[in-house]
Order: sequence, then C-alpha cells, then structure tokens
Amino acid sequence: MCGIVGYIGKRDVAPLLLEGLQRLEYRGYDSAGIVITGKAAAGRPGTLKTVKAKGRVRDLEAKVPKRFAGTTGIAHTRWATHGAPSDENAHPHLDAEGKVAVVHNGIIDNASELRAKLVADGVAFLSETDTEVLVHLIARAQAATLEEKVREALKSVEGTYGIAVLHADFNDRIVVARNGSPVVLGIGEKEMFVASDVAALVAHTRQIVTLDDGEMATLKADDFRTYTTEGSSTTATPTTVEWEAESYDMGGHDTYMHKEISEQADAVDRVLRGRIDDRFSTVHLGGLNLDAREARGVRRIKILGCGTSYHAGLIGAGLIEELARIPADAEPASEFRYRNPVVDPDTLYVAVSQSGETYDVLAAVQELKRKGARVLGVVNVVGSAIAREADGGMYVHAGPEVCVVSTKCFTNTVVAFALLALHLGRIRDLSVADGRRIIEGLRRLPDQIGEILAAEDEIKKLAEEYAGAQSMMFIGRVRGYPVALEASLKLKEISYIHAEAYPASELKHGPLALIEPALPTVAIVPDDDLLEKNRAALEEIKARSGRILAVAHREQEKADHTIVVPKNENELDPILMGIPLQLLAYHTALAMGRDIDKPRNLAKSVTVE
Ligand code: F6R
Repeated sequence: MCGIVGYIGKRDVAPLLLEGLQRLEYRGYDSAGIVITGKAAAGRPGTLKTVKAKGRVRDLEAKVPKRFAGTTGIAHTRWATHGAPSDENAHPHLDAEGKVAVVHNGIIDNASELRAKLVADGVAFLSETDTEVLVHLIARAQAATLEEKVREALKSVEGTYGIAVLHADFNDRIVVARNGSPVVLGIGEKEMFVASDVAALVAHTRQIVTLDDGEMATLKADDFRTYTTEGSSTTATPTTVEWEAESYDMGGHDTYMHKEISEQADAVDRVLRGRIDDRFSTVHLGGLNLDAREARGVRRIKILGCGTSYHAGLIGAGLIEELARIPADAEPASEFRYRNPVVDPDTLYVAVSQSGETYDVLAAVQELKRKGARVLGVVNVVGSAIAREADGGMYVHAGPEVCVVSTKCFTNTVVAFALLALHLGRIRDLSVADGRRIIEGLRRLPDQIGEILAAEDEIKKLAEEYAGAQSMMFIGRVRGYPVALEASLKLKEISYIHAEAYPASELKHGPLALIEPALPTVAIVPDDDLLEKNRAALEEIKARSGRILAVAHREQEKADHTIVVPKNENELDPILMGIPLQLLAYHTALAMGRDIDKPRNLAKSVTVE
C-alpha cells in the first residue's frame, strides 16, 4: 500500500525520489507525486514545486519538467482510501499558499469532523483525501517552529499515520512522524533519507533508524534527531540492514514471483542456519524470550495471521500439535480481533506476518498485549511493527519478498514453525530419536526443493493444460488441507480463476455436487497414514467424471496427471507439497497473460483495515 520516500542532502533530489518510488511500486498503488524545495536565495524562503499523476511512477516521471532542480524533497505512492485515484487526490497535498506539503500513509479517522471545522473557518479543500486536513492544520498552527506546528496539528488527529512534511519557510529540514504506519530513517554521509520501507533506502544506505509509534524526527542534511510527539528527546542508534540492494532486483528472472519461487532452497537453508543443536536433537531459538520452564507452562497455542500467513499458521498449528502435543490452532487475525476473544494466561499467542506491518495482525497483537497475553512474532521483515510489538519471536529470514503474492516467505514461515514445534516438543515429550528424525528431514529440504524446481517444465505443461478452466477445486486432508487452501489462494490471486479448497473428507457433505468434467480437482495425496482415505476421495471424483491433478509421492492411478514430489518425514511433507502448486499457479497465470507481480486490486502490505 502507500509508500513514502524523502531526501535531504546535496544531490539532485528528483531522480533519487523517483528511483525510491520505483522500489516501492511492489507495495501496490494507484497514483504518485513528488514535491521538492526549489533553490532559495540566501535568507529568503524557498518555494515548493510539485508534480502529481494518477497511474504509475513512470507516468509521474513523464510529467516532471526538465528544470526541476532541488536538493530536498518528499514523494509518495498512494493507494486510494478517501477519494478515488486521481491527480488531485494523489499526495503530496499542499495548503492554499503552497508553503506546506505533506505525504501520508495511514488513515485519519476523524478527518470528516476536522474537515467540516476547517471548511466552516473558510478553508477551501482541493482534494477528497483525509491527508489534506493535516496540511491545513499544520499551515494554520501558530507555533514558531515546524516541529511544533506538526506536533500541534497531530494533537487534533485520531488515526494512523506515517508522515513527512516540507515547509517552504523551514527549507533546511524534513519533519516526519509515526503512529501505526512505518517510518524509517536512512542515515547517509551528509545526506539523510526517509521512507516507509527499507526497500527504498538500501541502494543508498544500510544504516537505518526505525521510528516507534509516537515518535517524530527532524532530518537535516548532516544531522537528525528524534523525539516524541510530546517533545521529549529519544535516543536513536542506527542499525545495519542485512538485505542488500541487489536482493530487490529481478536477478535475470521475468518476474519477482518466479525469482522468489526459485530462491526457496537457499531461503530454507537460511532459516535453518545456526539454529540446529545436534547434541540435544533440538534447535536454539534465543529470540523467543521463553525459558524452558515457561515453555512447559504453555497449555495452548493460538496462531494469528492473514491470507497466506494464516495458511502457514494452520500448518504450524498442526506441527505443534504433532511434535509438541500442545493443543494449537490458527485463526485469521482479522476475525479474531473483532470477536472479543477470551484471552487465557496459559495460552501462548503467535502472530505471523511476512511484512510485519499487516494492520489486522498488528491490531490483534496490541489487543492481546493490552489484555496481558504473551505474544510471539514469526515475521520476515526485521524491526517491523509486529516484530517490535511482540514479546519475542523468530525471524524467518526469507529475504525481501517483492511480488505481491507470497511464496518463499510462506515456505520459510512453515519451516520456522517446524523449528518452533521441535523446540517445544523437545522441552516436553518428543524423544531424542524423533528430534533427530525431524532434524534430518529439515536438512533434506533444500535439496528436495531443488528437485521440485527442476521439474518446472513439466508443471508448466500441466498449467497450460488447466489454464482454460473456469474454476478449480483443491482438496487435502489434515496435513494436506492447509496446502490445498494456500494453493487455491495462489491460483485465484494471480490467474483470477475461481478456486475453492475443501478438506477431502468433506466432499460428500456438499461440494461433490460440483464435480463434472469442466471442474478439475487438484488433490494433495501424501504417502502417509491417510493415503487410502485420500485415494477413496479420488475414486469419488473419478466416478463423477472429474479431472484430477494429484500432488503425491508416487503416481496416482485414479488421477489424470500426478506431480510426484520427494518424500520427507510425514510431518514435514506439507512444506514440499505446496511448492509445485506455486509453480502451477504461476504458469497458469502466465499462460493467461496476467500481471503476475501486481495482481489487480491487491497490495503487498495491507496497512489499513
Ligand atoms: C497472498 C498474500 C497475502 C498475505 C497477507 C498477510 O499471497 O501475500 O494473503 O499473506 O496479506 O500479509 P503479511 O504476511 O505481510 O502479514
């Protein structure tokens, strides 16, 4: 969703900001804009120069005039919330005098109320956005400094924001503030950057400072300082981001999705690295901040996430029940937070999120913390809001995921859950032999992923065959059901083919009525204790002339086609069985000519409700 990038220093700012916006494109947006402070004569206020465009960053770039010089500026990609995508509603927003410019991520909840008051005071609005309210509040603030003006304005505002503010009368600085929407400072040599996502910074600096909620900062070319919205100073020590600028490049692939699917063997290797303890047949997870005694006291585990992360959580809950024998379940965080959940002191809550920013997950975590629960985070983006809010947790080390739909992060998250389950299991009743068996299975994963990826051409042929379907059914049982759910989500997100996922055991309770030759079924058929049950489901479908594509550990007679995947330990099989189905979705969408990395209506980080 929306992205912010800003710069103050000596370089020509417009190309820098446009490049930064391009790096944020993956988040999803519908319009973009840029404002810079033009050169000011000594002792005289600068002027603000703005360009905005509905559409892509390249549309904005085409509108930027040749003479657009300046060394300070802020820019934005917008995802419409208040008001349709248009040039007028694109950020930055400026006051009537053109002195104050604001870019904003988040939502101002009391915008209509504030707008009514401002209109009654004679303010003319140029856009339908909630952000414009903030601009007028800052412009009308009586305080002497820009920092105080922003602070004064923020006092009237309810909602979430990450903002960057430029003021023509204070053109030696950018003032930024955060409440619920990420703001990251990039610290350079005699130059400073700001962005809502490190993706926009890493090409220039890997020294970053992540603001906390309620924190503000003033950036000058050779200096920055942080303080609270109440005005007291805070200490900010820059940390080094481990992700390199190249990790955001396409690396010779045609799409980010393909690149990210292909990276999974290395990514899994990274999530395992340094964590396995062969001596005790367990794993080290120091970041959990949960000692053995506390871990033994956990009576239930509740996993919360959205979309693909929720599906990873479902597999995670299964792993925890199987290996640690702790009752566990997963629920969409978006539902959990609205049903006044009973929060039990003996339950350990686990929030799962690739971005670490998803608003529904963050809000669930905050609600749980407010009620005194202990919350762990299983997160990819280091230092993200959910990681910071949680009491402890694990990073999944998948590396940056740019494609809107999640692939490598899903796989790594499930592996992270296997580590958590093994750790909790070995503190409880999982035997040394079983611990060793799981560790050996985990170690086999990267090579086995390599084998699956090597069969891409075959999967591509199958995808081309199934690409004409109007609708597809995905089925699996117990360990296979979340795999079916995730595969069906992947297919619908990028190909727009309607897809449903059902437990295979539920077929005869209703969905069997849908089966006919035009509705292909993808069946997850692992060689485990449920193999015969799964085969019975294939029989049921075949008897109704349904076409079947099985993902299995050996050829399935009843299926029209089988994708054979390498066998691992029963508990770890779901990790591998999802991967060919990522490729199936990918090649189906490709055959249909879809915009794979940016599917319609979707954004990478859903930072609003
Ligand atoms: C699907 C997908 C989404 C996300 C969901 C949660 O491919 O990517 O369903 O999984 O929006 O996002 P995170 O994991 O960032 O919290």
